[in-house]
Amino acid sequence: MEPQTPQTEPAPSHPPLESLAVQPLVNRDYESRPALFYERLRAEYGPVAPVDVLGVPAWLVIGYPQTLDILRDTRGIWSKRLDSWRARREGRVPADWPLLPAFEVDNSVFRDGADLTRLRSAWSEGLRPFQDRTRTQAKELERDIRRYADELITVLSENGGRGGWADLSAQYARPLPLMIVGRLLGTESGRGDEIIMDMWRMLDAGPDAAEAAARLGAEVAGVCAAKMAVPGEDLPSYMLAAVPDLTAEELTREMIMVVGLVGDYTGTLICNTIAEVIIGDAGVRDSISAGMLPEAVNRAAISSPPMANLTFRWPKTDVRVGRFQIAAGDPVMLSPAAAHLDPAFTGTMAPDSIYSSRAHLAWGAGPHACIGRDLATTITTIAVERLFDRFSALRLALPADQLPWRSSPMMRGLRSLPVNYELPAEPPAPPPAGPAGADTAPDRDAAGEAASRSLVRRVLRMMRLSQS
Ligand code: HEM
Repeated sequence: MEPQTPQTEPAPSHPPLESLAVQPLVNRDYESRPALFYERLRAEYGPVAPVDVLGVPAWLVIGYPQTLDILRDTRGIWSKRLDSWRARREGRVPADWPLLPAFEVDNSVFRDGADLTRLRSAWSEGLRPFQDRTRTQAKELERDIRRYADELITVLSENGGRGGWADLSAQYARPLPLMIVGRLLGTESGRGDEIIMDMWRMLDAGPDAAEAAARLGAEVAGVCAAKMAVPGEDLPSYMLAAVPDLTAEELTREMIMVVGLVGDYTGTLICNTIAEVIIGDAGVRDSISAGMLPEAVNRAAISSPPMANLTFRWPKTDVRVGRFQIAAGDPVMLSPAAAHLDPAFTGTMAPDSIYSSRAHLAWGAGPHACIGRDLATTITTIAVERLFDRFSALRLALPADQLPWRSSPMMRGLRSLPVNYELPAEPPAPPPAGPAGADTAPDRDAAGEAASRSLVRRVLRMMRLSQS
């Protein structure tokens, strides 16, 4: 039988989702022992489980074949449009449901059909100069990522002598991608620092988060309006060039996504990869020593996918998945994290292999698959490579099972990553300038390096992560 079947055989009879969804998704085990939590769900319900997502009932898909099948959506059964949600149309979704603001943004994530194709083509074309490693833009970006990474490492280790303590989340994995957001949006000068600070405040979800989010929205709108007037060599300008009828509002909504995707999810992947390497799980350390950093990132994406669970989808017709009949308009949450633990997936991976299965779902698949995968992988690869190059030893400052995880219904990442580090006796060699062919004119290089250094120092000072 196929993993999902539109009504071709008698539907199983069971109570509706609303009366089945008694198990809260976010609970202590979900946060601290997710593998155990998903295994219990699998044992009780099979590949699809009814759960309560912060007060809203939803089907959580935890089986690998079912998740892949729904992502691919070859029969056009699934919608990502918010107006497909039956309970919302009927006024049964609480107005203060915490995920509602994230779901109501009306960007490409929540579009179908021609609307989606148009926005996705803007994304693919806009990202191409940064993701195609033969292009000058991509080479320059890689060089800057190396510079930001090196400067962050210099700052975090400058008071420690030959060794010391650092929080690699707060001092490295989080600030690095935020600087890259500014670089992609084309805001390095002028208002760039403020945008970075507001991203930080918003993502930290502290008391000033709502104000920061509003300011950030206005700042990004200002950047997009400026790019519409005078295009530059940046992501919003390239997206506009690809799809010239994008409105300022549409462009702004997509650019706000960059903050979460680069600033938060990529920072999370960096942290999760560093943790995987240090802990030495899942063959990641072997991959690093064999010089296969992208493979290490791949493995970390399998064992701790930053997008643990995805935003809802809704079937347009009743459909059977696993043991349940999912009614048209019921919310369905796909779980790459749980799918990666499904024996149907893990059984395909040899435990001693240093090559992992590429068929993982950390980047999604099908019509909504991640378009920024290469960029996120490049950022993460460089970040991890610079770290392990500069330090001669890195050890967790806490037992691995006491690392503090920050879990939301959709994301899984470390709240902090405390480490003890050691520096080599010899001062580090200057970082490689970048792949062959990058612009390495000495005076431009020195100026670029000074600009990166000053940006990193300014931002760290604002974040109160450095006095200098
Ligand atoms: C580690 C970082 C990232 C992870 C784990 C990640 C993961 C994902 C996943 C799982 C999806 C599919 C969601 C779904 O089907 O519901 C997705 C979609 C997408 N991602 Fe990423 N992503 C990351 C970084 C990025 C970056 C850096 C960009 C671009 C700057 C990006 C751009 C997109 C876009 C445009 C979509 C498609 C939206 C849609 O069509 O619905 N992502 N990403």
